[in-house]
Amino acid sequence: MKYYNSIIDTIGNTPLVRINRLNKGIKGTILAKIEYFNPGNSVKDRIAVKMIDDAEKQGLLKPGGTIIEGTSGNTGMGLALVAIDRGYKCIFTMADKQSKEKIDILRAVGAEVVVCPTNVEPSDPRSYYAVAQRLNSEIANSFYPNQYDNLSNFAAHYETTGPEIWEQTAGKITHLVAGVGTGGTISGISKYIKEQKPSLITVGADTYGSVFKKYKETGIFDENEVYPYLTEGIGEDILPKNVDFSVIDAFLKVTDKDAAIITRRLAREEGLFVGWSCGSAMSAALEYAKEHLKEDDVMVVILPDHGTRYLGKIYNDTWMKERGFLEQRSFASAKDIIAKRSGSPMLITVDKNESIGNAVRILSRAGISQVPVYDGDNIVGSLDDAKVLHLLIENPEIKERPVAEIMEKPFRFVGLDNTVDALSSLIDKNNKALLVRDEYNHIHIITQHDLLMALAN
Ligand SMILES: Cc1ncc(COP(=O)(O)O)c(C=O)c1O
Repeated sequence: MKYYNSIIDTIGNTPLVRINRLNKGIKGTILAKIEYFNPGNSVKDRIAVKMIDDAEKQGLLKPGGTIIEGTSGNTGMGLALVAIDRGYKCIFTMADKQSKEKIDILRAVGAEVVVCPTNVEPSDPRSYYAVAQRLNSEIANSFYPNQYDNLSNFAAHYETTGPEIWEQTAGKITHLVAGVGTGGTISGISKYIKEQKPSLITVGADTYGSVFKKYKETGIFDENEVYPYLTEGIGEDILPKNVDFSVIDAFLKVTDKDAAIITRRLAREEGLFVGWSCGSAMSAALEYAKEHLKEDDVMVVILPDHGTRYLGKIYNDTWMKERGFLEQRSFASAKDIIAKRSGSPMLITVDKNESIGNAVRILSRAGISQVPVYDGDNIVGSLDDAKVLHLLIENPEIKERPVAEIMEKPFRFVGLDNTVDALSSLIDKNNKALLVRDEYNHIHIITQHDLLMALAN
């Protein structure tokens, strides 16, 4: 039999997948390390198990204890899984900018979640760092892993992710790119690989509103660099002990918007349904690769988590538009199309008993290609000149026959407020036109030509 003793034993050994489309025009190979293959769907499972293993070894966590952590969600998920395996309780503090899905997921696996305000100083007693610390001091037999300063975080990546990548790339890796939050991921992997291959170039993805890039470049911790941003999981207003600046060669800042757009492209163009900070890492990777990557180079980009946690945010078009991340395209509606029509508003129709020959003459005189068919009271069918032509070539005799014999199903009715983008999805080679009833109950026809004109004007 082939099985694992616990879900915890499935952590790690995540796949490397080549990027095939987003890197168009870029030399070299870009490989993504897909961390959502971990059972908690993120890279943080690795550090969760290592932090708890080390705490148990050091006697910091005893049976029946409580794990308390300030987490953006992913570390919480990893810790919750380890806690289930080992019989601990979990309390997590989270900033209120985090997605609701992340909070729900933690509660689903039995954790207690305390939501704290985002826009307060880390030292403020309301911050999620401070609340976690306070709970830790108040609750007996509790352990506060503190992923920011606990070097088991770094060690997890030094011992697992780094060696995995080294082996998976057969030592051919030349560049490493990862988002930087606690810094454990990038520092642990980079340290391990640089020990095997000092020429490795490591690039960190930072957010606007975070201190890392400036600190790396100037050694200055600049409070002015700190302001609110939306990307979840990366960027900091503190310098966590897990960031080893000596193994990070450069930082690139990525906007919330660019990260969101690249994340959506990863899903749609690469089939990688990943989280927001994955777009930050990939955006930094593509920017760096465009300038620097050579034909034989192999760049590995860490994609830390899964897209489900962001369905209500970056994968939601309304949310994206509200933030100006997606262009608000205001399309004309069916009402606008009708209103702009000059000349007679009369709908041209043919009677179902009309001869096919006469129907063709009506179409030709009016300069139209399709027409609704009437039975005196209702629209009962439709006629399309291309199809009539086809039938007449096959059998010229049919021109004396009534339209009813060859008419097709009536055109579909649509609402007045349907916009061009919606209307265009309803018109195709089998549905050549649409019908719409205006405020006065007059029926109008909308054809592909109308939609083209609406888009061109
Ligand atoms: C979604 C996400 N991406 C990236 C990171 C950054 O990884 P690290 O904390 O190892 O720097 C985190 C960490 O919180 C995260 O939750």
